[in-house]
Amino acid sequence: MNEAIRCFEKHFGTAPACTTRAPGRVELLGNHTDYNQGLVMALAVDKYITMAAAPRDDDQVELVSTAFDAPARFTVGHIERDPEATWANYTKGLLLQLQQRGVRTGGFNAAIHSTVPLGGGLSSSAALLVASALTVRKLHPYTLAADGTATPAQGHAPPLTDPERLALAKACQAAENQFVGVNCGLLDHISSLFGKAHQVVRIDCLHLTVDWAPLPADLAVVVCHSGVRHALVGGEYNERRSMCEAAAAKLGVAALRFVNPPGLEAARARLSPREYECAVHIVGENDRVQRGARALAVNDLATFGGFLFDSHASSRDSFKNSCPELDILVELARVEPACLGARLTGGGFGGATLNLVQADQAETFRASVGRAYESRTGHPLESWVCDVVDGAA
Ligand code: GLA
Repeated sequence: MNEAIRCFEKHFGTAPACTTRAPGRVELLGNHTDYNQGLVMALAVDKYITMAAAPRDDDQVELVSTAFDAPARFTVGHIERDPEATWANYTKGLLLQLQQRGVRTGGFNAAIHSTVPLGGGLSSSAALLVASALTVRKLHPYTLAADGTATPAQGHAPPLTDPERLALAKACQAAENQFVGVNCGLLDHISSLFGKAHQVVRIDCLHLTVDWAPLPADLAVVVCHSGVRHALVGGEYNERRSMCEAAAAKLGVAALRFVNPPGLEAARARLSPREYECAVHIVGENDRVQRGARALAVNDLATFGGFLFDSHASSRDSFKNSCPELDILVELARVEPACLGARLTGGGFGGATLNLVQADQAETFRASVGRAYESRTGHPLESWVCDVVDGAA
């Protein structure tokens, strides 16, 4: 919290009225399944976007960030994209969504600090959207009903319920889709809002339900950052999504969730080679999430870890959302005896790998992979042992 508070005090010359923080997430298994109405497992991790904020008497918003030099200033009633401060587009897009739902967003000042590596595949963008939504909820209290309709709250806003968390996640997703321009699914926002300490968040993106299952205590979550910054706004993400949607349409289903591996093979001739490859990845991932849940339930970690390696191979060979650096990281992890499984996490095209490692070997693993990665690529490796934490508050 302190960095955001310090930044607020330095820039605005007063103390903030409130702070909020939202965690980044690691996608455990289920890659690009969310917008295919599929299944995904995720973890909220101890990398946060923190916002310190105070209301203003006028309708101006002033945002500062410890990561960028210049502040962003705008009027709540006149929100436009600013190519000079694209980082502010997340908060702006979210404000527009809240306004459309009936929230009366007044002016405010806010300072933002991130320990989620930007472009690192841990979804700093979702954490920023969620932190922005909760900041406004504290400054200008409102509640969202399950259908998204807002009601002003008297005094303090009540604690979040799960239906309101889901409504907030949808508002965040809409901001990202409509204002930022990434056609992402709900995985990131749901993970940041529904995270639970030491628990896997299991999301069914067809029924929009969430439940939790314990992550075995003797496992550490190690995130290795390839150093390749990914920018999903770059278009490859949206292109993959279109390919999946085209494949579903040709197969006569609403989404690839409704196709299983034998069904896909039987209908292969209806798809172009590229549509087929994309569908193989999504259908395979949904299948791995279901089988992975069964393996985790009986503590069969070797089988579960195998699904992580299979998932990465499918990203690399079929969906083609890996990159050489991520492939090297997974290869290096695979030869470490303490590593049960490793794969790229999140959108891909750069970013990070997730590694499940025996907890008492986590530091040895980090050091060993770090040395090997530097000697293979010439770049030092940034990596973290992450705690699995509660969602945003
Ligand atoms: C990004 C998107 C998510 C999801 C993942 C891939 O993180 O924002 O919605 O599609 O990629 O699983």
